Amino acid sequence: MKKFYITTPIYYPSNKLTLGNCYTTVLCDSIARFHRALGYDVFFLTGTDEHGQKIAKIASAKNMKEIDYLNEIVADTKKLWELLNISYDKFIRTTDDYHVKAVQKIFNKLYENGDIYKATYKGKYCVPCESFWSEEQLVDGKCPDCGREVIDADEECYFFKLSKYEDRLKKLYEEGRNFLLPESRANEMINNFFSKGLKDLCVSRKTVKWGIPVEFDKEQTIYVWVDALSNYISALGYLSDDDSLFKKFWPADVHVVGKEIVRFHSIIWPAILMSLGLPLPKLIFGHGWLIFNGGKLSKSKENEKKEVIDPRILSARYTSDAVRNFLIGEISFGQDGPYSQELFLNSFNGILANKVGNISSRLIGMICKYSDGVISSDIKTLPEDEIFINKIKELKQDSIEKIKQLKPTLSYKSALKIIDECNLYIDSNKPWEIVKQENGTIRVNTILYYACQAMLEAYSILDAFLPENICKVLKIFNIENVKIDENACCNFDIDNVKVEKIQPLFARLDIGKELQELDQIAND
Ligand code: MSP
Repeated sequence: MKKFYITTPIYYPSNKLTLGNCYTTVLCDSIARFHRALGYDVFFLTGTDEHGQKIAKIASAKNMKEIDYLNEIVADTKKLWELLNISYDKFIRTTDDYHVKAVQKIFNKLYENGDIYKATYKGKYCVPCESFWSEEQLVDGKCPDCGREVIDADEECYFFKLSKYEDRLKKLYEEGRNFLLPESRANEMINNFFSKGLKDLCVSRKTVKWGIPVEFDKEQTIYVWVDALSNYISALGYLSDDDSLFKKFWPADVHVVGKEIVRFHSIIWPAILMSLGLPLPKLIFGHGWLIFNGGKLSKSKENEKKEVIDPRILSARYTSDAVRNFLIGEISFGQDGPYSQELFLNSFNGILANKVGNISSRLIGMICKYSDGVISSDIKTLPEDEIFINKIKELKQDSIEKIKQLKPTLSYKSALKIIDECNLYIDSNKPWEIVKQENGTIRVNTILYYACQAMLEAYSILDAFLPENICKVLKIFNIENVKIDENACCNFDIDNVKVEKIQPLFARLDIGKELQELDQIAND
């Protein structure tokens, strides 16, 4: 069986997760679900990145122990993933004991390989934020987080010999094997980083206490990236007593990450893996940002319209599928895209109510009206039906191809096109007229039969994208645990299935009224 290992970044539990954070997870979940339906053995990893000074500061401001604070946020995160139907196979926390042990062993290995050495770190330090910055990270010479003055820092720490791997890393990009996608991100790496030469990287800190201690030098704490990036292998049991998952799933098929952390995944992570002598992930995909009021984060500025952006509220009012539909369908994977309440609601009506929900209530309504609620197998296939089936097959294959190419937005759209074709087929065949004709029964049966087959093809795919609602209709046709057969089309076993009228899966919204209510929630 073909395996598929996909990961999201691990999230900073510095606050409750936002709709922006949901973006990576929802997209990865849909890709993972689709691969499961195609018969892959899937491992889908997500989790939380729990160390660092920032977390320690937040906990102390709340008068809490770090771990107590983290437990609260992690519980909230898991609840959110449940709400959004995220089907992860493992949730890793970097405070988990097995991860801590693996990171220490990884650090030791890098050291034993001669890739880690002690030296003095010189850079900039923001006292209130307790954060180190390099000259290039400063914004107008000031701390990029709080905008205050920074001071010169001078501290002993361990460095990783990133420069040693420069040539091998460069080759990775020159080989043209699409290690990093979209292509524009690879060009960014080449122009912004390789052109300046890679500098060795500070990988431990003396002043940071909330983190994993270096085993052979307890005064030093392993800093950020060696800890965080290692989650992708520690989660599989790398360097533990049971590394069977590691043997089975490594290398990852894809690490999906936001564009601001592409550098860490496409330069630092492969260098660490090279040092460890491990195979590299097959692909790093750097997606774009969901833009709120012109920025990545949800902090709205003065005078700007406040919007409801809490995925918990949106999901409770409109279902998790509405949140997923927006993130998958309205933002082209790889690019930035804006969020607004209006866009969200219009997408709900345009895609979910008018297309996805409408087709099943329409078709089932017709089966009830023209065929006593039974899908008859007494049919006669005409050449025009064959043409229709072939079109559906093409769209289905296109949707499958697009998901394999990691183009979920396009894959989703191809599945939606199956619904468009299905509506066209019904409209042009007009079963409501044929039913009145003498001897029209077999033709009506045939139209309803193939329209139903096509709808089920679309729904089998859409189940990966909209897992809360689609399954309700699939169940009526006795389809549970969807399996997508890449080579077949329109051959669901639906003969004589009995159906009853259903409410539309997504009722049309009154956008004006919803906007008013959302505005009120946002301003409360
Ligand atoms: N902890 C690091 C990742 C370490 S992975 C070894 C981190 N965490 S994060 O919580 O800040 O971000 C997690 C993910 O959420 C990132 O991929 C980031 O790009 C994504 N998003 C956060 N806000 C976003 C948007 N507004 N839009 C899309 N994704 C964004 O980085």
